[in-house]
Amino acid sequence: MQSSSDAVPAGLSVPGPAVAAAPTHHRVEATIVLPTYNERENIPHAIAAITAAMGAKSDWEILVVDDDSPDRTWELVEEIGQRDERVRCYRRLDRKGLSTAIVDGLSLGRGERLLVADADLQHDLSKIPDLLAALDGAPIAIGTRYAGGGGTSEWSKRRLALSRLATFLCRVALGIRCSDPMSGFFSIRRSAFQTIAPQLNPRGYKLLMELLYQLRSSPVGEVPYVFSPRRAGESKLSAAVAWDFLLSLAELMSRRLVSARFVKYASVGLSGVAVQYGAFYLLWRHVVADEGATALAIATAACSNYVINNGWTFSDRRHRGAYELLRGLLLFGAISGTGALINQAVTWYLHVHHTIGLGLTMA
Ligand code: GDD
Ligand code: MN
Repeated sequence: MQSSSDAVPAGLSVPGPAVAAAPTHHRVEATIVLPTYNERENIPHAIAAITAAMGAKSDWEILVVDDDSPDRTWELVEEIGQRDERVRCYRRLDRKGLSTAIVDGLSLGRGERLLVADADLQHDLSKIPDLLAALDGAPIAIGTRYAGGGGTSEWSKRRLALSRLATFLCRVALGIRCSDPMSGFFSIRRSAFQTIAPQLNPRGYKLLMELLYQLRSSPVGEVPYVFSPRRAGESKLSAAVAWDFLLSLAELMSRRLVSARFVKYASVGLSGVAVQYGAFYLLWRHVVADEGATALAIATAACSNYVINNGWTFSDRRHRGAYELLRGLLLFGAISGTGALINQAVTWYLHVHHTIGLGLTMA
């Protein structure tokens, strides 16, 4: 509340609040986004390598996007940031996943040129200036292992074959013309990213494929590099990631007529049928009579559907903790239970009418 002594006498102009001159931030030309999950041992080395690669330039920043790593990578980055203000950390508490981490990093980066690299030193960070410069001639540029001078060291035949197959599929199915659409090392102009950002559907590992698909009519810059062995820690690339890649590809191919989430949800539903019949058979053989077995089998299938959907289909908004899980399960049970009841009613209706129909014909 304003006291009367603060009141401004009539006729006097009100002096505005003293506005301190806005601090002049140094212009940020480039943002280097480093997604991390348990990279405590690697991150200081990655930051040092980038600092060395940028040489005399000072108009850049590093933005680490860490998914609340149990090894507290974020804490170490914050410490480094205290000493070097070009280094920032976004500790994400609400989401996990490489692609969304990259999208968040690209969205928060202040540079006109944005670049993404792994934090485990598998990418050749000395090529960063070349990748940034390549944006002079193209809205997007990739570090490539499959062009002159590039390569992969110490890769198993299986992994090499998988990577090659994915590259081939990308080219044929999506019309993406570049030698390494599976790269995790790339740069993009901020303006291009801002334009296509609303169309992105970040999932799994393959964000670059999405970006290239959205920019498929533009040129793509390429900078060859050799993919090194991981410095420390372990890769998070798993079978689920490969599966996600195939889904992304199918989804992009069908021009998103079918969303990957829908495919997942439908396959979980199908798995539920198998669970229900399996459970029914076991219960009916060994435990209870018909009706009881049917009800228990339906409940088992509902639980398994819920658990798989929660862990896989909706892994980005997973229910956690006893309360949330129980609430989710009950809600899921209530909704799918309604479906089951309708199902039962229709079966009963058809059954009755079919019998009557049969009765009539036979009469
Ligand atoms: N924030 C966040 N969240 N970061 C993640 C996550 C996540 O869920 N998963 C992985 N990362 C980080 C890692 O900490 C690392 O810095 C980087 O992303 C790459 O992860 P790796 O687990 O090391 O991937 P990779 O070496 O198996 O795969 C690399 O090579 C592939 C090419 O075959 C990546 O560069 C892929 O993008 C690339 O396609
Ligand atoms: Mn790696």
